[in-house]
Amino acid sequence: MTASGAEPTIAFFRAAASVSPHPLYSPISADMQAVDAVIRDRLHSDVVLIRQVAEYIIHSGGKRLRPALVLFSAGAMGYRGRHHQELAAVVEFIHTATLLHDDVVDESDLRRGNQTANALFGNAASVLVGDFLYSRAFQMMVSVGSMRVMEVLADATNTIAEGEVLQLLNCHEADVAVEDYLRVIRYKTAKLFEAACRLGAILGGADEALERGLAAYGMHLGTAFQLIDDVLDYSADEADTGKHLGDDLAEGKPTLPLIHTMHHGTPEQSALVRRAIEQGGRNEFAQVFEAIRACGALEETRRFAAAESALAKAAIEPLPPSIFKDSLLNLSDFAVARDR
Ligand code: IPE
Ligand code: IPE
Ligand code: MG
Ligand code: MG
Repeated sequence: MTASGAEPTIAFFRAAASVSPHPLYSPISADMQAVDAVIRDRLHSDVVLIRQVAEYIIHSGGKRLRPALVLFSAGAMGYRGRHHQELAAVVEFIHTATLLHDDVVDESDLRRGNQTANALFGNAASVLVGDFLYSRAFQMMVSVGSMRVMEVLADATNTIAEGEVLQLLNCHEADVAVEDYLRVIRYKTAKLFEAACRLGAILGGADEALERGLAAYGMHLGTAFQLIDDVLDYSADEADTGKHLGDDLAEGKPTLPLIHTMHHGTPEQSALVRRAIEQGGRNEFAQVFEAIRACGALEETRRFAAAESALAKAAIEPLPPSIFKDSLLNLSDFAVARDR
C-alpha cells in the first residue's frame, strides 16, 4: 500500500492519542475535543489510501494552534453557535494540506517526530492527498453557507500558494532582502493565522474595527511564529520540534538568521553564508551555525519575533475583557518563547 511497503503502525496512533492538550487550551478544551471529532468525521473517504495518508498526518500530534485561534477569536466576540468547530477543522485541514505539500517541496523526511507522509507513502500520494484535504476543506466551508467566510478562506489559500511559490523562487538566492523574506512568511504562514482569527471575528459578529484588530493580531502572531520556526531550524532540540535541524539550509532558504549574518558578519562569515545558500546541502551546517551564533543572528530574529508579538497584543487591546482575550495574549507570548 505504501511506497516502502510499510503500514503506519498502531503504536504510532496510540502515541498520538496520548498527547495531552496544552494548558493554554483549557478555556476551549470541550470545543477542541469537538473539533477533533469533526476532523475524524470529515476525513472519511472510500479510497483507502486517502484515509491512510490523511489519518497518518492529521492524528500525528500537531499543536492545533490554528483551530484554537478560531475558537479563541469567536469566544472573545461572545459567539454562541456551532459553526466555529466546523471552521476550526477547515483551517486545520488547510494547514495539513500545506504541510503535506511543503514536505514534498522541502524534501523533509521527519515531521512531528515521525517519518513524513512523503517519506512513508511517496511524493505522489502526499501531493494528491494534500489536494483531497484542500478540496474537503472547501466542501466543509460551503456547508457553513456564508459568502464572507468563503471569501476569507479562498483568499487565504490562494495567498499561501503564492507564498510557497515565492519561497521557491528565493531558494539559493543570497541577495533576498529582509522585506522579500517577510513577504514570504506573511503569505505562506501568517495569512492562515490571520484568516483563523478573522473567521472567529466574523462568526462572533465583530464590527469592522474589532474584525480588523483580530485579523492584525493573527497576521503579527503568524509572522512571529514563522520567525521562531526559522530560529528553531538552526537551534532546536529535534526531540522537541520533531523536525530535522538544518532543513532550511539544506534547501538553500534565505531565512532571517542567514540574511542577518550576511549583512552584519565579517566578510568571511558573509561569504560562507552566501556560498551555503547558493549551494544548499548540510555539509557546512556546523560552520554556518557558528557564524550565525557569533553574529547574534538568532537573538536578532527572536527580537524581531518579540516585536511582532507585541504588535499582535496591541491589535486586540480594544477587545472587551474575557478569558479568551487573555488566552490570545498568552498565545502571543508562547509563539515567541516556544521550543517546539
Ligand atoms: C508548521 O506549523 C509550519 C509552520 C508554519 C512553521 P506548526 O508548528 O503549527 O505545525 P504543527 O501543526 O504543530 O505540527
Ligand atoms: C512553513 O514553512 C510551511 C508552510 C506554511 C506550509 P517551513 O517549511 O519552515 O515549515 P516546516 O519547518 O517544514 O514545518
Ligand atoms: Mg518545510
Ligand atoms: Mg521551518
